[in-house]
Amino acid sequence: MSEQQLFKVTIDNITIEVPAGTSILEAARKIGGEVAPPAMCFYSKLKGSGGKCRTCLVEVSKGSEKDPRPMPKLVASCRTTVMDGMEVKNITSPKVIDARAGVVEFLLLNHPLDCPICDQAGECHLQDLSYEHGKEGTRYEFQRRTFKKHDLGPYIQLHMTRCIMCFRCVFTADQLTENRVHGVLDRGDHAEIATFIEKSLDNDFIGNVIDVCPVGALTDKTFRFKNRVWFLKPMDAHRDCPKCSGKVTLWNRGEEVFRVTARKDEWGEVEDWICNECRFEKKHSNDWVIEGPREISRHSVISQGHYLDAVKPTETFLAVNDGRAPHLLLDIHTESDVNKPEIELSLINGPAHSNNFNSK
Ligand code: SF4
Ligand code: FES
Repeated sequence: MSEQQLFKVTIDNITIEVPAGTSILEAARKIGGEVAPPAMCFYSKLKGSGGKCRTCLVEVSKGSEKDPRPMPKLVASCRTTVMDGMEVKNITSPKVIDARAGVVEFLLLNHPLDCPICDQAGECHLQDLSYEHGKEGTRYEFQRRTFKKHDLGPYIQLHMTRCIMCFRCVFTADQLTENRVHGVLDRGDHAEIATFIEKSLDNDFIGNVIDVCPVGALTDKTFRFKNRVWFLKPMDAHRDCPKCSGKVTLWNRGEEVFRVTARKDEWGEVEDWICNECRFEKKHSNDWVIEGPREISRHSVISQGHYLDAVKPTETFLAVNDGRAPHLLLDIHTESDVNKPEIELSLINGPAHSNNFNSK
């Protein structure tokens, strides 16, 4: 068997070797962290995705060892494959940072400022992108797009005004279900995601469109307006499901399961597709075998307030008191019955209750 050809590529001054045919984006993800460009439309598990949103633009400062000329324009890293000896700049390129701010401005032209009431807030890729690259104001003076309401059935809510036309949901329906009934209608700024003759999307795996949607255009009707994701505790759980892997993340508050989603990796992509029954109909902890708290590796407001990998603050009192110890120091742990240091919050199965602290 012939050996797989490896290409050397340098991204933001870090060199790695990847198999020929790898895209710049995937090579950058192998390095990880900030070096990986943001991606609003590419989805590694969906064939044909990418090339729509332009958030993943990078500068190719050296084409390859054989032809070292730089590429004249910024390129979409999800759709450009690496060449041997290629040199790429992402966060080290002021041009890229500037272009990305422009792309964010375009994506927000028609996007409503719904974050305070949008169920996606806290895990929205556009919200993160705007926070990192967006500008305070908008130069857009025209009326924003409005759409006729479409009913997508009992489980999925469509807010077309929030859609960024990434096509992920269309690919998901095409590749995961037997009969896609929704798609992109019309063109240009009239283009919209819709179902012809308002058919309901009732395929077994259609709920996955909620997980792939990078914004709040497709959300879970069974969770709508019920809670904010950062108030919930994500727990890995599984069940014996005849239709899918049954491996999910439960979003709990106390014993109550507020929503069920697929497990997502650090790029915000689903690890295993889950079926509608697991997602929409198994909303009781007894339906699941709880594995433990889910670690959110993607940087997000959701990771705040979770106890995994918590780092205790260093002692600041001496530092702010010129090295002098206080005359009297009360320890809240000894003075009160709560927050006992010997209670390891990350080991508690589910959210902590007063009982955890009262037990002798
Ligand atoms: S509804 Fe969501 S997943 Fe579908 S095209 Fe719009 S933004 Fe993308
Ligand atoms: S992620 Fe590359 S163009 Fe959208």
